[in-house]
Amino acid sequence: MKEIVLNHPLITHKLSILRDKNTGTKKFRELVGEIAILLCYEALKDAKLHNTVIETPLEKYKTQSMNEDDYAFVPILRAGMSMVDGIIKVIPNAKIGHIGLYRNEETLNPVEYYYKMPENIKKREVLVLDPMLATGGSAIATIDRLKKDGVKKIKFLCVIASPVGIKKIQKAHPDVQIYTAHVDRCLNEHGYILPGLGDAGDRVYGTK
Ligand code: PRP
Ligand code: URA
Repeated sequence: MKEIVLNHPLITHKLSILRDKNTGTKKFRELVGEIAILLCYEALKDAKLHNTVIETPLEKYKTQSMNEDDYAFVPILRAGMSMVDGIIKVIPNAKIGHIGLYRNEETLNPVEYYYKMPENIKKREVLVLDPMLATGGSAIATIDRLKKDGVKKIKFLCVIASPVGIKKIQKAHPDVQIYTAHVDRCLNEHGYILPGLGDAGDRVYGTK
């Protein structure tokens, strides 16, 4: 499945501010949340609608609505939480699962330290959230874990992706659609995305 890249002037504008090393924690968080809303808007284009009848102040009206319960959002801790902040503004009843992973700085392999999903996770479509797709290790470990729990439909939403990370997900999980705001040039020798925005977790939480 070919990755979906949000080509839009608004995204280019917001990413320019996000990447700037002088952008502080508050603004950084807000921007990741805003971009997450735009990614979610794109990722839910195929959302199932259910027929319903409502009454406007003037008459009955046959319309359609989404069942927010059909979905679960799974941020990869820590940085993925900043995307949830945006998404719950447009899907306030979203069910949220959490997976905690950190990259071993030497091997770059993901290490799991937390996993808690909403009930009936296997019946829901799951949108995995992480601002950064670098080597692809964290994304693949998350998707593996969700599939082990029986989840059938998974989408992966990120702010910045590396070409190698995209290829690795597509090879390991060809059924998973990737949505990204931008595909950057490459990774450096420490597995950081170039030009990138640095360490997303540290910038969101001000830890460095
Ligand atoms: C970052 C980022 C991703 C991961 C991407 O998390 O938020 O989860 O790295 O890298 P990968 O594609 O090579 O796996 P990090 O491990 O720094 O943890 P943090 O969010 O807690 O800072
Ligand atoms: N994780 C980050 O936060 N940033 C990168 O550039 C790569 C992985």
